[in-house]
Amino acid sequence: MIRNNELNFLSFNESSSPVELSASIRFLIRAIRFLKPGKMAYKLDFYERFLNYLRIIGLASLSQNQSVLDDLNAENESTNHSFARFLIHLGLVEKQDSQWKVKAEYSSLAKNQLLALLEKSEKPASTKLSEAERQLVDDFLHIRDLVKKYRQPETSFKHIRKHRKTWERLVQSNQLDYEIRLSETLFHLWKFRSGSKIRSPFDEAYYTESGRSAFRNFTRPLFQKYISQLASNLQHHPTVFDLGCGYGNYVELVRETFPGSQLTGVEINPEVYHATREKFSTDANVEIINTDFFELNATKQYDFVLMNYVLFYFSQEDQKAVLRKAASLLNPGGSIVLCQYFSGIENLKEQLAERQKEFTLFKKIVMYYSDKILYANTLWNDSVDTFASAVKWDHFRQNLRESGLYIESTTNADPYYYSLFVEIKKLS
Ligand SMILES: C[S@@+](CC[C@H](N)C(=O)[O-])C[C@H]1O[C@@H](n2cnc3c(N)ncnc32)[C@H](O)[C@@H]1O
Repeated sequence: MIRNNELNFLSFNESSSPVELSASIRFLIRAIRFLKPGKMAYKLDFYERFLNYLRIIGLASLSQNQSVLDDLNAENESTNHSFARFLIHLGLVEKQDSQWKVKAEYSSLAKNQLLALLEKSEKPASTKLSEAERQLVDDFLHIRDLVKKYRQPETSFKHIRKHRKTWERLVQSNQLDYEIRLSETLFHLWKFRSGSKIRSPFDEAYYTESGRSAFRNFTRPLFQKYISQLASNLQHHPTVFDLGCGYGNYVELVRETFPGSQLTGVEINPEVYHATREKFSTDANVEIINTDFFELNATKQYDFVLMNYVLFYFSQEDQKAVLRKAASLLNPGGSIVLCQYFSGIENLKEQLAERQKEFTLFKKIVMYYSDKILYANTLWNDSVDTFASAVKWDHFRQNLRESGLYIESTTNADPYYYSLFVEIKKLS
């Protein structure tokens, strides 16, 4: 973990220029993907295809939202819109003669071809397509095959030809579990319409389930280490409040890490609440409450208020109110600890990885993919009706400043630096 006195987190701005890998790194990635020396090479192959999958989805949404390009060219407010950022950072649009246009190599895929591909997995006639577009289509269908196999294990791949057995094993052994779920979720971005919300094709518990999958696959050991460091100066068993506790992943881990700890979890979704309350029904140190956080009349104060993957359920205005209410629940010296992803902070994450002495070539490559995918996830949080608004870094740090809060420490919440753990304290 890195503290505020080593890196001034709030001095970092969201960046607007896309990060690219050097030609030599791209060559290395091509070689690894071709030779497939091990499991990690398949993951790399997956990520490269995932970006192209997102590009097809982006081109389909753009074909139905052409006005976004006009807005970009007019350089009005929407230049900062998540959709514009997604298009720019995934390299779908570029400036030609000072005008934003679809990149030349992606400009022959017609709207009807894109929609047929998305709706029916119908491959467009390839004669007029560029080499780059053919690759996008192949990669899109590859990922669709994996998603289908994940949901219907008895089906055979329709498009994956090479290394079928290995891909099958990776899906069956849940080694691409989180990534495939994310592909399944982000597929629906093709329904994006500027100015309105996409109706979620999933029920609310689906996202709680995805949270559980991320926790099992990535965050669990890192959180245990982080919270142990944060609690190391306490003279008593920690008391913890978990806002949006979901199925109680973090509650369970805190109880396991600090057997004398006492926890209160708040969960708005009755279905999720019942499952979680049941899980802790024999633990007198755990209280699970079914309410909206804003409705809660809290009487106790806590050493830690956890807020993991929950801020995007609140509007931009309410995000500030949530932080303030969470801060009001803290004991003197207590901390809000949140787990959250932010797009556009590649520079901050690179510095963090460097200071944590793990900014290796390999890390640089996986962070590149995870950073690009984040632009799609941010867009999803802004676009689907389950969520109110993505958590934007610049807005977040402004909220902290305006609320008398600051970031005391941070660390990565997964090996890809996709999400961060952030410890927030009150300015004294
Ligand atoms: C994505 S899940 C994450 C669950 C858990 N924190 C984790 O990381 O595994 C977010 C949870 O916050 C809950 N939630 C959303 N808005 C809330 C509110 N206003 N009050 C309490 N819980 C809320 C949702 O129902 C959901 O279960």
